[in-house]
Amino acid sequence: MKSTATAPASIAFIKYWGKKDEKLRLPETSSISINLDKCLTHTTVEFSPNYKQDTFEILGNQTTEEEKERVYKHLNRIRALKRSSFYAKVVSQNTFPKGSGIASSGSGFAALTVAASSSLGLKLSEKELSILARLGSGSACRSVPGGFVQWKEGNTSNESYAYSMYPPGYWEIVDILAIVSDKVKKTSSTIGHALATKTSIFHKPRVEEVRKLISHIKTAIRNKDLTLAGEILEKDCIYMHSVMMTSKPALFYWSGKTMDVIHKVHALRANKIPAFFTIDAGPNVHIITEAKYTSQVVSELKKIPGIKDIIINKTCRGAYLTNKHLF
Ligand code: DP6
Repeated sequence: MKSTATAPASIAFIKYWGKKDEKLRLPETSSISINLDKCLTHTTVEFSPNYKQDTFEILGNQTTEEEKERVYKHLNRIRALKRSSFYAKVVSQNTFPKGSGIASSGSGFAALTVAASSSLGLKLSEKELSILARLGSGSACRSVPGGFVQWKEGNTSNESYAYSMYPPGYWEIVDILAIVSDKVKKTSSTIGHALATKTSIFHKPRVEEVRKLISHIKTAIRNKDLTLAGEILEKDCIYMHSVMMTSKPALFYWSGKTMDVIHKVHALRANKIPAFFTIDAGPNVHIITEAKYTSQVVSELKKIPGIKDIIINKTCRGAYLTNKHLF
């Protein structure tokens, strides 16, 4: 059977950086994120006795052998659950640039998990889908449930999954994504996670701090307190990038344009607009603010030379099945 799923990328307020088990992708800390309604991956999967091998393509993008292998490995996990020996055809499409610090592996593996398990007729709960997606890419587990999400770190595979704390729209915040580059990042997140735990002197202190930040940001989200949430999410972004920059080899994901956007966010705040930045493993900057400030933030961002695109994301539902097949 052919199945298609759509899944959103997430932006983390408290980041996932460093694993206590690399194979199982168990994170060293819990993380907190929202799902982004304009940063989506659509994936169609068909398992069939007619296919002689697995195939994977991303429409409009080149796929590397490494990416294909990672997808086929994930298909093996799903096949094993059904004891199926059928090969699959997988076609994906992203609504945002691949590899630019927008978690395409997150939305990608969430959509793949939901589409592939449906194609094999597996009936999995949201929790089971989240656990399965996590094995493909850690952040993918957060793209399965909707809205405001917490990934509980857990100590075993079955304990490490994401759930929705609040539905989309619970709090009218937006993620204004300033794209300063659409180039593929040089060092993948998977390599970065391993370097963090093994080589950065700031990794352990960050892990200890994150345990406190998690409970503070949950309070801020519950109270819809943007000043507190913003202060915490910016702090953890800077902590995570400090870990990256002090890894060996050092990982600098920011560019000069990234700094230009950060300065603009500071200027907005000086003008009493509550806007806060966060950045994943790439140069693009996510600006978190309340929906009512969107036009002011966007018009200020447009004044920065070299911004390639601005994407305005609201919070949205998690991964879901659709009939819009890609083949
Ligand atoms: C910087 O989920 O891409 O975006 O589990 O190795 O696939 P793997 O890592 P990945 O890491 C994402 C890291 C991040 C922060 C975050 O989204 O929390």
